Amino acid sequence: MDVNIAAAKAKLNEVGYLDLAVDPTLDLFEAIEQLKREKNAIILAHYYQEPDIQDIADYIGDSLGLAQQAEKTSADMIVFAGVHFMAETAKMLNPGKKVLLPDLKAGCSLSDSCPPPIFKAFKEKHPDHIVISYINCSAGIKALSDIICTSSNARQIVESLPLDQKIIFAPDKNLGAYINKVTGRDMVLWNGACMVHEIFSLEKITKLKERHPEAKFIAHPECEEAVLRLADFIGSTTQLIKYAVEDEANSFIVATEAGILHQMQQKAPLKTFIPAPPDNACACNDCPHMKLNTLEKLYLCLKYEQPEIILDEALRIAARRPIDRMLELSRKFGL
Ligand code: 13P
Ligand code: SF4
Repeated sequence: MDVNIAAAKAKLNEVGYLDLAVDPTLDLFEAIEQLKREKNAIILAHYYQEPDIQDIADYIGDSLGLAQQAEKTSADMIVFAGVHFMAETAKMLNPGKKVLLPDLKAGCSLSDSCPPPIFKAFKEKHPDHIVISYINCSAGIKALSDIICTSSNARQIVESLPLDQKIIFAPDKNLGAYINKVTGRDMVLWNGACMVHEIFSLEKITKLKERHPEAKFIAHPECEEAVLRLADFIGSTTQLIKYAVEDEANSFIVATEAGILHQMQQKAPLKTFIPAPPDNACACNDCPHMKLNTLEKLYLCLKYEQPEIILDEALRIAARRPIDRMLELSRKFGL
């Protein structure tokens, strides 16, 4: 191994990504395509990634679609353009494959809001409840769960359980409250939330709706109840894109991470998409974790096959069980 690379890999432990200089004249799109072919690698990207990354991905989707792709891929290597829990899920499903994340520090505030030791004590206080956890959680939380869900299948999964089944829903209190509302259940909710979806300004959204009375307001269920109450449609990222493309309206105010607008605009170029404003000086809402990934880091990660997701095998097996259950149920629901 090149000495500089050895030093860079040592530094990787400190900074979470390879910070080698990339030749500014290099065509990163071409270089990434070539590395992908050489290594039989696949790039899976979430809709919240920057447009360049979305454009070069082999598959782009929501958390459920990404897990399903990870389950069925025949590639030898998976480069995950998303956040840590997503890459970790791909590794759980592919223990024999190399799973890479361009920046190991790409975490998730929602996942961080549910530390496993504290959740374990909480669970022990509700011994007759089963645990449904949103996929935005750590391997430690997955290992303590009975079924994983995403925003695409949470409702069906909850509704598939007997009415008298007591349920703990973790870690997102907003998604949990929304599912309680639409299903009439009374799940016990963990008090976690996503920093991106909690920061929308109700006041600014109301004013924006007044300025664009023709626009439909669509929102992700990770938003707070007061925001969801204003929505014409609520759904996962994939469901929001589908609705925006298929609905007869020509303009939409979109309350989720702003990266999704790239796909909406590509799929419906004649429609207008307005990002819902957050309660700060910015006009739109970026996830600071998702946006840690860049095309340069993606290239370096493919080239040097670092940083890699490594999982303890016992934890991997325990955490995979509720994911398999989710994938099985999703097949049953035709999702
Ligand atoms: P979905 O893409 O599954 O709707 O999830 C949104 C999200 O916040 C991912 O971090
Ligand atoms: Fe986590 Fe929210 Fe970012 Fe999604 S948007 S990765 S839930 S912090």
